[in-house]
Amino acid sequence: MHIDIQFVPSPPNPNLLSNRVVVVIDVLRATSVMAHAMSQGALEIIPVATVEEAFQMAKVFPQGSTILGGERGSKNIPGFDLGNSPTEYVAERVRGKKLILTTTNGTKAFQLVSSGREILAGSFFNIGATAQKCLELNKDLFIFPSGDEGDFSLEDTVCGGMLIDLITKKREKPISLTDASRCAQILYQRFEDNLLEAFHLSRHGKELINRGFGDDLVYCAQIDITDMIPQFRGGIIKT
Ligand code: MLT
Repeated sequence: MHIDIQFVPSPPNPNLLSNRVVVVIDVLRATSVMAHAMSQGALEIIPVATVEEAFQMAKVFPQGSTILGGERGSKNIPGFDLGNSPTEYVAERVRGKKLILTTTNGTKAFQLVSSGREILAGSFFNIGATAQKCLELNKDLFIFPSGDEGDFSLEDTVCGGMLIDLITKKREKPISLTDASRCAQILYQRFEDNLLEAFHLSRHGKELINRGFGDDLVYCAQIDITDMIPQFRGGIIKT
C-alpha cells in the first residue's frame, strides 16, 4: 500500500485517483458534521457548491424531507435550517432526512476528488473506523485535507497524519509513505496528546473562536465517537 497526502486542496490529477481510495478531511467542521449527521440517522447528504444551488435542490424533494445546512465564512446561512456545528445535527432534527449541505471548503473538496475509486469522509469522530476501512479496501491511499480557502490547514493535516499513523501501526504488510505522508504523521505525533492545541493554533480554529464557535473545537477533537464512514458516490454521500 502506498499512502500520499496532498497538503493544499488544488485539483489533483484525475488519472492518479482512479485506482485509489481517497479520504477527504475537513475536521473543522464539514466532515465532522457528515459523520455526526449520519450517526444520528440522516438518510444521505447532498453536497452542493453554492447557497443558491442548495435552495434549488431542496425544491426537488417533497417538503419536510430535507434539511438545509452549512456555513459561509463560518457563519450560519440565512434561511437555512442548520449551521455547521456538529452538535446541531442530532436525531430529532436529521433522522430520516436528506441533508443538503454547502460549506466553504469541505463540500467542494468532494467534487475535486470525484474520480477517486472510493471516496470517504474522515474526521477524528470516525478515524479508527476509517483506518480499518482503508486497510480492508487494501488499495493505495490518497488523503485530501480540504484546507482553508485554498491554503494548507493545520487541523486537517494533523487528522490525516493520525490516519497514516493508525494504518502504519495496524498493517502487517509493507507500506510506502511519501515525504508528505511522513511529514503529516510527524505533525500528528507532535499533537497527539493535545489535538485541541493544534485547533487553537490553526487560523480556522481561531476564526471559529472569534465567531463564537469555540465549543465546536472541543467537540470536534473527540476521537472515535462513531463507526459511520460517509462515502461519496455519484454526487451523494451515504454510508
Ligand atoms: C468548510 O467546509 O470550510 C468548513 O467546514 C468551515 C466551517 O465549518 O467553519
